[in-house]
Amino acid sequence: MPSHPKHAAPDHEIHELIRRRWSPRAFDASRVVARADLLRLFEAARWAPSSMNEQPWRFVVTERTRTPEPFLALHGSLTGRNPEWAGAAPVLAMVAIRKTFEAFEAAKETAWYDAGQAVALLVVQATDMGLFVRQMLGFDRERARGALAIPAPFEPAVAMAIGYSGDPESLPTEKHRASELKPRTRKALDQIVFEGVWGQALGGGVDG
Ligand SMILES: Cc1cc2nc3c(=O)[nH]c(=O)nc-3n(C[C@H](O)[C@H](O)[C@H](O)COP(=O)(O)O)c2cc1C
Repeated sequence: MPSHPKHAAPDHEIHELIRRRWSPRAFDASRVVARADLLRLFEAARWAPSSMNEQPWRFVVTERTRTPEPFLALHGSLTGRNPEWAGAAPVLAMVAIRKTFEAFEAAKETAWYDAGQAVALLVVQATDMGLFVRQMLGFDRERARGALAIPAPFEPAVAMAIGYSGDPESLPTEKHRASELKPRTRKALDQIVFEGVWGQALGGGVDG
């Protein structure tokens, strides 16, 4: 049994940091993220691999206490139900990607892939530091671009709420409160990894 309802219950042993990572909506509004800790998160992202080492990611960080104006502007660009919970996070950040190569004006297919790897490392680093991240695609692209002055050829890709997890009861809707405690689910391994040919599950087998 996992010690926390949100911790993974893996079928095969995985690293503790992967097991314990999850994306909350409830953040502790009273705890700020120390500047040194914030820098460590983005340092982790910085060392991610990327196609041709072009590192097509940029991050714009806003903090409720230090930079309230851009924080509110970024919060104002969130859509759907995101604004209802994300304002409690002490940090809202935007991942921007460059979808063209640096050397020439051709489309760079890997920008999303590369940025996703950088964020994945950031999130693992955050987990090690007791911090949590929830990523959001639910935001208005042009509003976020304007709010944070993101210049072409960069474009806003994913927003992130970063902070310490909070009390699920602090969430305004019952749906979100329930979701905060619901065990996380995943597709089975034999649905996502195949051996030799598509559709053939990677079996346990015998080594050697
Ligand atoms: C690219 C991306 C976009 C997401 N967009 C939103 C969003 O707009 N709102 C939200 O509440 N969660 C969003 N999420 C969080 C996912 O719903 C969450 O990661 C997923 O349900 C798995 O839960 P877990 O991260 O706790 O394992 C997003 C996650 C990713 C990676």
